[in-house]
Amino acid sequence: IFTRPWVFIRGVPAMKFLPPEGPPEIAFAGRSNVGKSSLINALVGQNGLARTSNTPGRTQELNYFVPDGYSGMEGDMPPMALVDMPGYGYAKAPKDQVDLWTKLVFDYLKGRVTLKRVYLLIDARHGIKKNDEEVMALLDKAAVSYQIVLTKTDKIKAAGVPKLIEDTLLKTKRRPAAFPVVLATSSEKNEGLDELRAAMVLAVNG
Ligand code: GTP
Ligand code: MG
Repeated sequence: IFTRPWVFIRGVPAMKFLPPEGPPEIAFAGRSNVGKSSLINALVGQNGLARTSNTPGRTQELNYFVPDGYSGMEGDMPPMALVDMPGYGYAKAPKDQVDLWTKLVFDYLKGRVTLKRVYLLIDARHGIKKNDEEVMALLDKAAVSYQIVLTKTDKIKAAGVPKLIEDTLLKTKRRPAAFPVVLATSSEKNEGLDELRAAMVLAVNG
């Protein structure tokens, strides 16, 4: 599925604009600038599919992507849709605006029936922060399965990655909805992507 062309289908600025429930959805969540949009582009091998930027707060809506070539009619649904989310935490935007995105992210994460898996992205340089803990608590409460993905591993020493994975796993292993494997990726160096794609396919088939 990842070798097909993927297309943007819509940007959702508020819950009432969500598409009707269709294919299983996989969402990419995390703090502003952690690398959500870059990871989606790397996964499908299409730079520029999801818009990225060095300025935190780039993604401002829930952006839906699907593989091309499915009509979406009964029996011709794509196997999955990817949802690129606005980041939470710091963003270069007015507070009211940021509060609205944060509400949208939280409402979607706890209330979307077709949401099969959340990839919770954590910057390998910064580790798990307080607002990541809040998101994990919400997903645990809503019983939405999530898996931690470390990003930008090219920015830390390669020798430090196994220890970071282990530490991150220790911090999350008592969380009921956390998948007990932590993945490490670099969108820049295309590392860890095969493992993540395989996990995504299992998530939508499970
Ligand atoms: P928001 O939409 O603002 O929440 O950000 P985002 O999480 O979608 O981050 P985005 O993908 O836009 O990337 C933010 C910045 O990090 C960009 O300058 C990317 O080039 C950079 N970046 C993303 N992934 C990697 C990576 O694996 N390695 C390195 N070195 N930089 C990365
Ligand atoms: Mg983004």
